[in-house]
Amino acid sequence: MIDKIKDYIAEAEAFKAHTKEELEAFRIKFLGKKGVLNDFFAEFKNVAVEHKKEFGQVINNLKKAAEGKVNEIQEALESKEDTAGAYGDLTRPGEPFTVGSRHPISIVKNQIIDIFSTIGFNVSEGPEIEDDWHNFTALNLPEYHPARDMQDTFFIQTNPDVLLRTHTSSVQVRYMEENKPPIRTISPGRVFRNEAISARSHCIFHQIEGLYVDKDVSFADLKQTLLYFTKEMFGKSKIRLRPSYFPFTEPSAEIDIYWGLKTETDYRITKGTGWLEIGGCGMVDPNVLKNCGIDATKYTGFAFGMGVERIAMLQYGIGDIRMFYENDVRFLEQFRASI
Ligand code: DAH
Repeated sequence: MIDKIKDYIAEAEAFKAHTKEELEAFRIKFLGKKGVLNDFFAEFKNVAVEHKKEFGQVINNLKKAAEGKVNEIQEALESKEDTAGAYGDLTRPGEPFTVGSRHPISIVKNQIIDIFSTIGFNVSEGPEIEDDWHNFTALNLPEYHPARDMQDTFFIQTNPDVLLRTHTSSVQVRYMEENKPPIRTISPGRVFRNEAISARSHCIFHQIEGLYVDKDVSFADLKQTLLYFTKEMFGKSKIRLRPSYFPFTEPSAEIDIYWGLKTETDYRITKGTGWLEIGGCGMVDPNVLKNCGIDATKYTGFAFGMGVERIAMLQYGIGDIRMFYENDVRFLEQFRASI
């Protein structure tokens, strides 16, 4: 009998548990009502008097061993629960946290806004779904004007007065309708044209429109403003205003910057000329001022429009406009900026 109890003591001392359930099973087996210990206590009265002392001691040892084990494992399990708890192991290394990056179009747009805001231009916006008046007619492009074909337009089939704006020049009109000179504003935004998608053109892209209306605004002001911009944006200090035609400006010009011919890429993107076109500009046509309720005998103004994708492609050396809209994270992750 005593040997049997000693076996139980050894078993109790060697016992290990990883869960509460295992521990409870152990407790019931040794300390439960019908457990090993109670059986041995029940045996006690049958033990011969001369063995009672030794028997009593061994049973007590078994009791201490079993109780000690239960307490020890219980404490260990509870302290594990404290750190594991509802949140898991709080000492484990954190989940890696990936920070997003701004889209290159947003970065370039913000740079342009920054440059113009230092010379007093504010930012204005207009709707992408426009009406005929703001996109065409008010800009000196009446119905049947051939220049409407310069920009392939997405119309709403059931209502030809509703269209997706083809340029941000529509915001000029809205701004002049609502504000009196002096006006100095730039209008960034998305524009839409029904064009085949290729490496160089897309049916959705971004423009930035600029407008300055005040007394005595001259072509020289336009030229200096654009020169300041190209210096700040590209670090280039030579521009050329090439005579052109836009219905909403008179005279009109294309803005070329001298990019240089240092590298093979310079040759490729400037087609060997060194010059790059970045937008259009001109003196606001008096008809446009009149259409927007501004006295064309008192005020003059200049306007310009530039493609944001084109500028971003130049800044970052991107050869295909479609990359901006594919949203491939391997492409987007390369752009980091503080603005
Ligand atoms: N709206 C023209 C376009 O999308 C760009 C433009 C040219 C805007 C001349 C202007 C301007 O304000 O004066 O092609």
